[in-house]
Amino acid sequence: MKRQCVNGWRGRESGAERPRKETCFVNIRDAKPEDGLAIARVQVTSWQETYSGIVPQDYLNQLGIEERGARWTERLLEPGHVILVAEDEDGVFGFAAGGTVMHPVDGYDAELVGLYLLRSHHREGMGRALVHAFAAKLKPRGFQSMVVWALRENPACGFYERMGGVRVAEKTIEVGGAELPEVAFGWKDLEALCSGS
Ligand SMILES: CC(C)(COP(=O)(O)OP(=O)(O)OC[C@H]1O[C@@H](n2cnc3c(N)ncnc32)[C@H](O)[C@@H]1OP(=O)(O)O)[C@@H](O)C(=O)NCCC(=O)NCCS
Repeated sequence: MKRQCVNGWRGRESGAERPRKETCFVNIRDAKPEDGLAIARVQVTSWQETYSGIVPQDYLNQLGIEERGARWTERLLEPGHVILVAEDEDGVFGFAAGGTVMHPVDGYDAELVGLYLLRSHHREGMGRALVHAFAAKLKPRGFQSMVVWALRENPACGFYERMGGVRVAEKTIEVGGAELPEVAFGWKDLEALCSGS
């Protein structure tokens, strides 16, 4: 799937008038086992960018890209997962991953377990594009609905609400020795999410 960049103007918020790139294309595709390390790099970088001040810093500092990369490669070799990457000419800058619900919420059968973009690529429409593409992959596998868990303090909660997600559950999880509140956002109708309606 090829998509034109939604925001073709870097620095728009600071008033810059120079185009980011003359032709700014991104590609969303199924991840391959050889993408494991690139996915881990995005995951660790995005965790450190996003969760500083929310998750204990010691935990964020010790996250290792190599070992996570090996785990992603293993996962990519197993059947049943939906793992998509978003890339441009500089490489992978985002991913979406999940499949069958792992942290159950009544009435929801699929889960978006991870959605991460490098901060340099936020607010360009790629989060929305990844969620739509992820939902479109779930539908032919027989799933009807989808849930995603987010730390309550994560600004991404606003994104999920903007995407039509409804708060359907809460729990706490332990991360790096801290008990942190989480919220689940649910979409009852994957069909609507695929089409963006
Ligand atoms: C959450 C995330 C995936 C959103 O992706 P994005 O590409 O920045 O979002 P998009 O540009 O596709 O935005 C889609 C819409 O959501 C809105 N939006 C995006 N981030 C938002 C936020 N933090 N709060 C409120 N609204 C937000 C956008 O303004 C846009 O609204 P529009 O319909 O008026 O245009 C991205 O910010 C990210 O990777 N964050 C860090 C990792 C993370 O927290 N992941 C979630 C873990 S649960």
